[in-house]
Amino acid sequence: MHAVASEQEILIEKLQNALDNESNAHLRYLEFAEKADGEGWHGVASLFRGVARAEEIHAANHRRILHQFEPDLHFVPARTEEGTTIENVRTALAAELCEVGSIYPTCADMARTAREVSMVRTFTWALAAEKTHARLFNEALALLEIEDEDAWITMVRDFYVCPVCGFTSEFEDEARICPSCFCSRSRFEAIR
Ligand SMILES: [Fe+2]
Ligand SMILES: [Fe+2]
Repeated sequence: MHAVASEQEILIEKLQNALDNESNAHLRYLEFAEKADGEGWHGVASLFRGVARAEEIHAANHRRILHQFEPDLHFVPARTEEGTTIENVRTALAAELCEVGSIYPTCADMARTAREVSMVRTFTWALAAEKTHARLFNEALALLEIEDEDAWITMVRDFYVCPVCGFTSEFEDEARICPSCFCSRSRFEAIR
């Protein structure tokens, strides 16, 4: 008979899943970026690279905490199903919405109940950043659907990523501090 998993064991498993998801998203978005460049959607490629960087930051934040509980971490990358750029943006948007709508709110609530402060922080930072990703992918999708070649989706451009929490913005200087983790905006990385 299996013992019932403790609250902490369930949380650790959720954190491991989140780490795998973020690591895979990082790799997948870099592949999607190459595809977008090949199709001439250079702005979408920039967006994929910016978001890929944010997911890499989430993975690092999750890994740092998980490492305290699980010293031996294994990561097997999932195979990417690649489509056209518009399909890839739909895939990305669906994944971000799933994280925003259920995965991260559930994880954050569980971590709060268990008083796992560092987990609350990494989950809520990721949640806030994924909302920015969903918004940006949603905008890209709307422009791709009408094939708006005068819009930013065709042009290489900078996206600004918080190196602490992965918050992602298309604006260089909308505020002095990151609205999510409050680090100085001057630390944001410009990714194109
Ligand atoms: Fe994301
Ligand atoms: Fe931040």
